[in-house]
Amino acid sequence: MLRFAVFVSGNGSNLQAIIDAVKRGDIKAELALVISDRENAVGLKRAEKEGFPARVFSPKDYTNRQSVDRDMVITLRNEKIDFIVLAGYMRLLTAFFVNKFPKKIINVHPSLLPNFKGVNGIKDAFTYGSKVTGVTIHFVNEKMDNGPIIMQEPVCVLEGDTKEKLEKRIHKAEHRIYPRAIQYYVDGRLKIRGRQVKILEELPDEKKK
Ligand code: GRF
Repeated sequence: MLRFAVFVSGNGSNLQAIIDAVKRGDIKAELALVISDRENAVGLKRAEKEGFPARVFSPKDYTNRQSVDRDMVITLRNEKIDFIVLAGYMRLLTAFFVNKFPKKIINVHPSLLPNFKGVNGIKDAFTYGSKVTGVTIHFVNEKMDNGPIIMQEPVCVLEGDTKEKLEKRIHKAEHRIYPRAIQYYVDGRLKIRGRQVKILEELPDEKKK
């Protein structure tokens, strides 16, 4: 079974959706480690409560970004982590880190990329007056919110919406599609060619055995 790590910085509602999917058997991989850059992240508490190992790599313990990332790489290698799932991890990973896990890091972003990159994807789309925004699941490269897109789901901005109401519906969409995208990855059904990601209809032959 593939082993994966989830990175969180905050509430960890996506982590919870992933944990639930692992427990139901909808994600057939082992959640071997939860990593956070913030020791007070609610996501860490969720991991603890559910009995998953968790570690904090706080930037304040390091002199620069690369040394944090170097330490994380060592831990991930020791734990034999096959792939990484970012779930509200609020730091940009260095090129050094990303290159250690090529095409093996996935992220969820709360807008239809390339629109509204950055940390305020929901607020920015709402303030801009977008009628449709949504959720993007994508591979991670060294640029922010830039890697090849795996899946997108539109979410309409409704008459009388508030940012909070919109946020709720976006999170709901995230929790529904992120575990599914992760399982596609686990099944080896995601084929990347340049910026295009094809989702194979069937499991590749080596996975059928
Ligand atoms: C989500 O909206 C995700 O798209 C973004 O950060 C938020 C994390 O929420 N990257 P949570 O911590 O999973 O509740």
